[in-house]
Parts: sequence; C-alpha cells; structure tokens
Amino acid sequence: MKFATKAIHAGVEPDPTTGAIMTPIYQTSTYVQAAPGDHKGYEYSRTHNPTRTALQNALAALENGKHGLCFSSGMASIDAIIKLLKPGDEVVSTNDLYGGTYRLFTKIFEGFGVKFHFTDMNELKNVEAAMNANTKLIWAETPTNPMLRIIDIAGLAAIAKKHSCLLGVDNTFATPYLQNPIDLGADIVMHSVTKYLGGHSDLVMGALVVNDDALAERLAFIQNSTGATPGPQDCFLVLRGLKTLHLRMQRHCENGKVVAEFLAQHPKVDKVYWPGFATHPNHDVAKRQMRGFGGMMSFTLKGDDMADATRVLSSTKLFALAESLGGVESLLGHPASMTHASIPREERLKSGLADTLIRLSVGVEDAEDLVEDLREALG
Ligand SMILES: Cc1ncc(COP(=O)(O)O)c(C=O)c1O
Repeated sequence: MKFATKAIHAGVEPDPTTGAIMTPIYQTSTYVQAAPGDHKGYEYSRTHNPTRTALQNALAALENGKHGLCFSSGMASIDAIIKLLKPGDEVVSTNDLYGGTYRLFTKIFEGFGVKFHFTDMNELKNVEAAMNANTKLIWAETPTNPMLRIIDIAGLAAIAKKHSCLLGVDNTFATPYLQNPIDLGADIVMHSVTKYLGGHSDLVMGALVVNDDALAERLAFIQNSTGATPGPQDCFLVLRGLKTLHLRMQRHCENGKVVAEFLAQHPKVDKVYWPGFATHPNHDVAKRQMRGFGGMMSFTLKGDDMADATRVLSSTKLFALAESLGGVESLLGHPASMTHASIPREERLKSGLADTLIRLSVGVEDAEDLVEDLREALG
C-alpha cells in the first residue's frame, strides 16, 4: 500500500464483534476468562488493549516496521529505550536535542550509571570519535529541535552497525510522511505522538516502532513492567488523527515553505532555520532522506535583542504562544525559556540556540493569513 492508503487503512479492521468500521474505544481494564488462561488474547489493559493494538499496528505499518508500541507520552517511550541499557553502558546522542530528552538522560539515567555523550552529529566523524566498546545506543533527532539540523540517518546506521550498537531516531518532526528511519537502517523509531501523529493538540502519547522480533519483545516487556501505557480513548483519537496525516502534512509543508520564504526576506529577521532552503547546511541530506521539508522552522531577529523577540512572541494573533507543535493550528514558542529551558545556557549556545530564537510550528490555516499575522507582529 502507498502512504495515503496506509494512513487510512493500515492496522485497522472492522470490529470483529459488531462490524463497526471504526475501532471502538475498549474502555475496560480487564477481560473475562472462561477458565484460568482461557481468554481471547486479552487479560489486562496495561499489557494489551484492542484499541491500542489497532493503533500500534497502524503506526508500525506507517513506519515500515513490524512492531509498534505505544506509551503514555513521548518521554515514556524514550525512557523505555534507555531501560534496555545497564550501568556502564554509553549512549552517543546529538547535542541539539529536545530539552526533555536531555533532562531525562542527564538528570535521571546518568544517576543510574548510564553515560551520555552529546555531540554535533552534522559531522559523522564526531559520532565515530565518541564511540567505544561500551556504546550500546546512538540516539538522534532529525530534523533537530529547535535548530532544524538534518542528520544523515544512513550514515549513523553504518556507524551503529560497525560497532554492533542500536540506532534510535526521534522522528517526531518529520513523521513517517516525510521520512522512514527504519528504511535508512535505524533499529528503533520513536515519536512524540502528541505532535503531528495525533495532530489536533488534544492528547499526549509516545510510540516506538521496530522490526526486530527480539527487540520488540524486550521493549514490550518494559512497556508492560513499567506500565506507562496510554488509555483507549487517546488511542482512538490518534487512530482518527492518522487518517488525515498525509493531508495535514502536505499542507504543513506547503505553508512552511511560504512562511519560511516570507521570513527570509523580512528586513527585521536575521537567520531562518528551515531545511528546504538550498542554503541550509544540510539541504542535500534533507533532499536525500526526506520527501519534503515540513512546517517546523526557527528564526532570530537582527540585533538579537530579547525585548524585540518578546514583542513578536506576545503580539501574534493566529500563532499562539504555547509549548508543543504539530497540531492543525499554528504555534510559536521561545525554546530558551520554554521547551529547552532544562538545557544549561552554555550548552544551548554551543548548538546555536540563541536567547532570542523563535520557533514556529506552521499549521494548516491559509498561508496568506499566517504571513499577515507574522508581518504585523514583526512590525
Ligand atoms: C522532538 C521531541 N521528542 C520528544 C518529545 C517528548 O514528547 P512528549 O511531550 O509527548 O512526552 C518532544 C516534545 O516536545 C519533542 O518535541
């Protein structure tokens, strides 16, 4: 099946008991057994739930993987990956990373003896240099949040293979519409489903997709043992959201291009970070591994004055100032004080995340209205 057909049909069968074409919300914690162990494949909803199963299968199909696993948040899904490791193991991670992931790595798992190296993955030789016999995982985000750098997934996969370690990719920004890390050699694809996959800013969820049966079994064991699983109502909402993923993403990409080009020619705007520009340092990699450039971008203002940035951040009318991204409505944010506040300032600056950087999640409204909103806010 091609992508749009998969978005609508993959993993979803009419309900076997009633024929309901939409997967019902199985709002139940437990399932009756005729005799001990004699059940229909479902015993307890932390372990399995039919609404969640349908969603997990749909996500696996969209990412060209065999197994999907859903979690109660994107962070819970990354947490499950790190629980594959043990004290003394090391992780090589990108230095331009969602702040919550950085916090989980440094404030939780370093305390349990896992060592993290944060490196600029634009240069694969930096990754190679950080590898050693203890490295068990390479962790990348691409496009990165919020600098929109593009990391060569196939290049990372070759390094991971050489060192017999896992490669995990946070595919939240790209979605399977734009990029499939498993096809490029990744072992684990992760999503903050909260964002584009849900698509309507009405739930929090995470997901992993893998191909390897043994790895899927280990992750399912962690999922069930630690219990950070989503409820059926949220799974239903994501199943509904997925049916328009391709339509939404197409419009996010179209609007993203219009807004990025508007910002690039605006006299008050200094730098615009969007991988669709031929001048973007990783444009070639983006063209090779992505099918479009998305609706996420960041920009800075000339003069780098926080008062100017605050004025823009508080005067848009359509772009709402809020955490998160990937919904149908446009959002803007200030990474230094919001999504990336947990990263120390010196670390942020090293990856180019300036104090005045503004991040946009361009929604699916009319592009002309979005441009007008920004034009007025920029003054
Ligand atoms: C790239 C990226 N990864 C992971 C997460 C964490 O996901 P969640 O908020 O669903 O826990 C986010 C959230 O903003 C994100 O942007």
